[in-house]
Amino acid sequence: MVTRGTTHPNRLRRVDRWLVATCAGRLRAAADPLVVDLGFGATPVTAVELRARLAAVRPDVRVVGLEIDPERVAAAEPAADPPALTFARGGFELAGLRPVLVRAFNVLRQYDEPAVPDAWAAMTGGLAPGGAVVEGTCDEVGRLACWVLLDAAGPRTLTLAARLSTLDSPAELAERLPKSLIHRNVPGEPVHALIRALDGAWRDAVPYAAFGPRQRWQRAVAALRDAGWPVVDGPRRWRLGEVTVPYPGTAAGAP
Ligand SMILES: C[S@@+](CC[C@H](N)C(=O)[O-])C[C@H]1O[C@@H](n2cnc3c(N)ncnc32)[C@H](O)[C@@H]1O
Repeated sequence: MVTRGTTHPNRLRRVDRWLVATCAGRLRAAADPLVVDLGFGATPVTAVELRARLAAVRPDVRVVGLEIDPERVAAAEPAADPPALTFARGGFELAGLRPVLVRAFNVLRQYDEPAVPDAWAAMTGGLAPGGAVVEGTCDEVGRLACWVLLDAAGPRTLTLAARLSTLDSPAELAERLPKSLIHRNVPGEPVHALIRALDGAWRDAVPYAAFGPRQRWQRAVAALRDAGWPVVDGPRRWRLGEVTVPYPGTAAGAP
């Protein structure tokens, strides 16, 4: 499904920073350090950034930007820097490549929810051993972002990430949930309970606002964990405005 292709420099810096921190081991261990940026958009800027960021972990990383729209592939060509960065036509089947990491951001958002399982299966089915897919959504400038980490066994974690200096309430993140969850933010669904609990913890943490939004977020996430939510990351990530939990609805996902 070809869309407007909206993208923006630094739009994906939150997820890239997280990938560098949490998926470095996969990239370092890979026999072939191949990474796919699926659906890079109207300009290849975020693929260029991804390659630069991952090169800090693995200097011989090769990023392939894939697009369903051949005109975008052609337009990206001047930014290519083979073999470190190349562009090709491809979709969820990953053009037959076997990458260790796939970043698919703001792609599934345009699809209907029933399309998600097949898209996930196609991407995870194409991974190299030990590989992972990060699939998510963010706003135009990357202030609010949510992503799912998937491996061959399916969805593992959900990460919520925000620029705290402009965050009024964690409920704002709900509109940036990945396609698999955005229509599930209704009472009775695990992701709804999660957002509600985080929002409540944020409200309760209002006395910490005097020390800045970072302190308030850290306090809120600690309270979420103390209430039994199986938060999988720790204060080092919280101070960046992130929280990662088991994927809502999986066995590990509820308090
Ligand atoms: C909104 S842009 C996202 C650009 C960039 N990833 C970002 O987040 O800023 C979505 C892009 O995904 C492409 N796209 C949609 N479905 C695709 C598919 N199945 N495979 C590859 N690209 C796809 C569209 O052509 C569009 O350029």
